[in-house]
Amino acid sequence: MAEILGLGVSHGPIILTPPEIWHEGRERIYNRVPNYEKPAQLLEELGQDNGLSQDKADHKRIVESFKIMHDRLHAWNPDVVMIIGDDQAENFLQDNLPPFCLYTGSEVDGYPFQRSARTNLWDAAPDTKFTFSCPKEFSKDMRNHLIRDGFDMASSSALKGWDWGLAHAIINPLVFLDPEGKFPILPLFVNCYGEEAGPDYPPRPTPARCYQLGQGIRRFLDTRSERVAVVASSSWSHSFLAHKFQCREIDTETDRKYLEWVRTGQGSKLAEVEPEDLQQSGDHEILNWIIALGVLGDRPAEIIDVRDSNTQLAFRVAAIWD
Ligand SMILES: [Fe+2]
Repeated sequence: MAEILGLGVSHGPIILTPPEIWHEGRERIYNRVPNYEKPAQLLEELGQDNGLSQDKADHKRIVESFKIMHDRLHAWNPDVVMIIGDDQAENFLQDNLPPFCLYTGSEVDGYPFQRSARTNLWDAAPDTKFTFSCPKEFSKDMRNHLIRDGFDMASSSALKGWDWGLAHAIINPLVFLDPEGKFPILPLFVNCYGEEAGPDYPPRPTPARCYQLGQGIRRFLDTRSERVAVVASSSWSHSFLAHKFQCREIDTETDRKYLEWVRTGQGSKLAEVEPEDLQQSGDHEILNWIIALGVLGDRPAEIIDVRDSNTQLAFRVAAIWD
């Protein structure tokens, strides 16, 4: 039987930056929406200081939650950290657009501060590089097991596309969780954005298929003795993806329902969410969590934090299953 620790984290670029500049990203997003009218809750959060007080409070909670998850991960001391994140036209471009892709190389790099030349919390140079070893034989065994078990998993041992290493969904949380590269890292890429990722992209995989993939990974892990931490990397509803609200606000009502399922060990219900409903609520990236939930099975999560302010542009959940 596998020993599995689960972590659920967010990866938005703002987690690496000081709250004093969060308004810049927010304004970039507002400018994408023609004739943007701010919803009432957002206006309230923006207050009299363009959201700075709210941003400072949210930033404090995000950093505190990552510290808790870092400490729990290191205390548990996994043999492998599998991190499930969406590629947003970074490592995967028009020449190759798999719904899922398992990384089977022996090492990966990431440059988390390069993507934007903005200030980061550590005042690190844009070309600061993070390097991780990867469990090459273990990931090949996982891929082979999945294929022989009926799940046609793609793999890559040489990432390309994005000039600056790992996609931000993979590298950004690692800056908090394992900045020194102590643990072997196994990335699984997911095309959560589907056709919205860019020209020629195929539809995103369905919630049901993502859950099945998680169950297939679990069957593999149950044949092994390694202690594996599975990290679901993403926020949930994004304001700029929530089509039911004209891509203007996060769908907190839907995400609070999903949160109750996750909190009470009913994560398998997410496998039954209709793809159209996922699209409407802007929950594209929760597919990463659904794969992790398929691995973990229906066990209750410890919810470390929930950030549901509209100023965040996304519903952020930090969770641990141990
Ligand atoms: Fe993302």
